[in-house]
Amino acid sequence: MLKVGIVGIGFMGMIHYLAYQRIPGVKVVALCESYAKERLTGDWTKIKGNFGPAGQQMDLTGIATYDNLDAMLADENVDVVDVCLPPAGHAAATIAALNAGKNVFCEKPIALKAEEGVEMVAAAEKNGKMLLIGHVLPFFDSHNYVFEAAKSGKYGKLLGGNFTRVTSNPFWLNLDRFYSMEGAGGPMLDLHVHDAHYIRALFGMPKAVQSVGRLRGDAPQYFNTQFIYDDPDLVVTATSGNIMQQGRPFTHGYEVHFEKATIICESFTGTPVTVILGDTQEDAKVEKPEFPAGDDITPFVNELTEARDAFVSGKPSAILDGALARDAVTICHKEIEAVQKRGRVEI
Ligand SMILES: NC(=O)c1ccc[n+]([C@@H]2O[C@H](COP(=O)([O-])OP(=O)(O)OC[C@H]3O[C@@H](n4cnc5c(N)ncnc54)[C@H](O)[C@@H]3O)[C@@H](O)[C@H]2O)c1
Repeated sequence: MLKVGIVGIGFMGMIHYLAYQRIPGVKVVALCESYAKERLTGDWTKIKGNFGPAGQQMDLTGIATYDNLDAMLADENVDVVDVCLPPAGHAAATIAALNAGKNVFCEKPIALKAEEGVEMVAAAEKNGKMLLIGHVLPFFDSHNYVFEAAKSGKYGKLLGGNFTRVTSNPFWLNLDRFYSMEGAGGPMLDLHVHDAHYIRALFGMPKAVQSVGRLRGDAPQYFNTQFIYDDPDLVVTATSGNIMQQGRPFTHGYEVHFEKATIICESFTGTPVTVILGDTQEDAKVEKPEFPAGDDITPFVNELTEARDAFVSGKPSAILDGALARDAVTICHKEIEAVQKRGRVEI
């Protein structure tokens, strides 16, 4: 049985807790929360997020509870520390847990600063422990579909893609904190990091980025980036950010080009994936793959099942690997620089 201690009982701490309940071979044995301490007694009614179930009164019988991380790290019953803190706290908590001899699963982004990501990956290597980062996007059926198609080679060579992730200004958060590089890092590190990670995983590390965007202070608020590769056929772009009209719902999606197929995903259209095949009008064909029914927690169950398998087997997860998440944050910072310069930045 893999025994997990979660630190940070907010929105993601709750989602991870609920996901673990559906995963055989994993047990949440400890919880740590330093501020909203009523959550340590099971009162999760004030936890709110933008998807998933509302917070409820929980029965935490049999689970050890701590109001500081050092105390949870001293608990020998905990094998894996699951870090669900705001991103500014990821590096310190992760490095402390790795130094205490624990494996770590940490929410995205790995950290707010690129150097912190480098230090976190180095701390895992130094301690001989595993660091996995919760980039959940590849565990959505819609996005896993492209990975599997690329892996199998069934549609030929990958030629690139355009990725989008746009929503309205998050007035429900503290906006000064959201757009601060010490707070949440703005839409670049909160939202777009999902696509930066996905692009890094699918196409490799770009050699440069070229961006334009609207800034709010130093933080890009709405932006478009071209990811530059040596292969001239590989055309990869992304658009992300927040716009002002509150009626603008969150949407994410992609159009990915293979030699023999174009795959389109538009969230909230009812049929998340469309595969367009055929090079001539005569052989043109459209397929709409079906996926098993699931709910908002399902991608997190998929993600944390992959993490369980990696922790138990000791074999790294190619997709949750800390080094990939570190690269995603490096790419995001190059994009911030590129938006500020209105130009190209080498990586
Ligand atoms: N993968 C996704 O789809 C997704 C969605 C939302 C958030 N996230 C990520 O999850 C992380 C957490 O976000 P959230 O929305 O759950 O935040 P949150 O504010 O709801 O929860 C964070 C919790 O950590 C607690 N906390 C803060 N510092 C602490 C400390 N030092 N020790 C113990 N507890 C402490 C806070 O009191 C709070 O309860 C962020 O990195 C965010 O980017 C990921």
